[in-house]
Amino acid sequence: MIETINIGTESYEIWMEHGVLQKIDKWVKNFFSGEKILIITDDAVGAIYLGDVKERLKQSGYTTFSFVVQVGEQSKSLGTAEKIYQFLNDNTFDRGGLILSLGGGVVGDLSGFVASTYQRGISFAQIPTSLLAQVDASIGGKTAVNLPGIKNSVGTFYQPSGVLIDPVVLTTLKTEAISEGLAEVIKCGMIQDSSILDEMMDAASFSEIVQEIEKLIIKSIRVKKALVEEDVFDQGMRMKLNFGHTIGHGIEATLGYGNITHGEAVAIGMVKMNQFAIQKGWTPKDTQALLIKLLEKVHLPTDFPKIDLEKVFEAMRHDKKSKSHGVSVVTLDGIGQSRIRSISWEEIKKSLA
Ligand code: GLY
Repeated sequence: MIETINIGTESYEIWMEHGVLQKIDKWVKNFFSGEKILIITDDAVGAIYLGDVKERLKQSGYTTFSFVVQVGEQSKSLGTAEKIYQFLNDNTFDRGGLILSLGGGVVGDLSGFVASTYQRGISFAQIPTSLLAQVDASIGGKTAVNLPGIKNSVGTFYQPSGVLIDPVVLTTLKTEAISEGLAEVIKCGMIQDSSILDEMMDAASFSEIVQEIEKLIIKSIRVKKALVEEDVFDQGMRMKLNFGHTIGHGIEATLGYGNITHGEAVAIGMVKMNQFAIQKGWTPKDTQALLIKLLEKVHLPTDFPKIDLEKVFEAMRHDKKSKSHGVSVVTLDGIGQSRIRSISWEEIKKSLA
């Protein structure tokens, strides 16, 4: 499947195909005519794929370099970005080079951030290797690094020249990582495309869902494509992708990154936000039963773990999407239909308590 993200001069293609990583050299040729490529990856993904990716690119005449970061959220920092700038500079990269991210959301966000700021912008392309990155993080041009305790607080909008998705790489992921990505897939179904949820309900088990993963990835990409094309800079409709994320980010920040996955936090956030919207009379009650059933089916939590809710609330207030009077949240009008609403801090605090 080739899907184009149509956003004017910054349009790009997502090429998804079983085993397509073997054709990486052909893919790169589509959008890059330079010579030097820096591959940024983490030690876990790099151990499996870096050697092969480098070799294929080398055989096609590219000069390749690699920068391997430690796996985990702590690598998404200004400190790591600075080390990569230095590496680029030491290896005389100029704006004619390419940065290729090979990894999950952390590597993609960090690589995009470095690419958008090194010499005011160097070409960049993404090979997402986690389900979460394939259905969400690699598409739409959001790049970021974290400040201590504040996720994604420094970043840019910078579109990749291309995205290469090979579902084969998902076979090396742990179940927990698949569940994490499925939280975003369920989100896409709830906010925009109920056929995603139908497919997941029709599957008899978690492993049957995984067998259908390519279809689910394509449908989720199409949900994201539609919202990004309408609102590249996240000022309007794109915010629908944040369903469950305000509470989710509050949970992640409170527990500390690494103690809960982003998908788990978003799963709880969706349930709590939906419960709030049902209480307000904005959302039909039957949405909650379906949401919970699907999350349980893919082994995601649906209730708060042991956590200080006051701290969750404070973390939500410091989230970059928050304003002094309140926050924009996404609520469901029905299954596969959503809208953005502004709510006050008093309302959301009362509901969480
Ligand atoms: N991950 C949400 C967005 O890209 O807008």
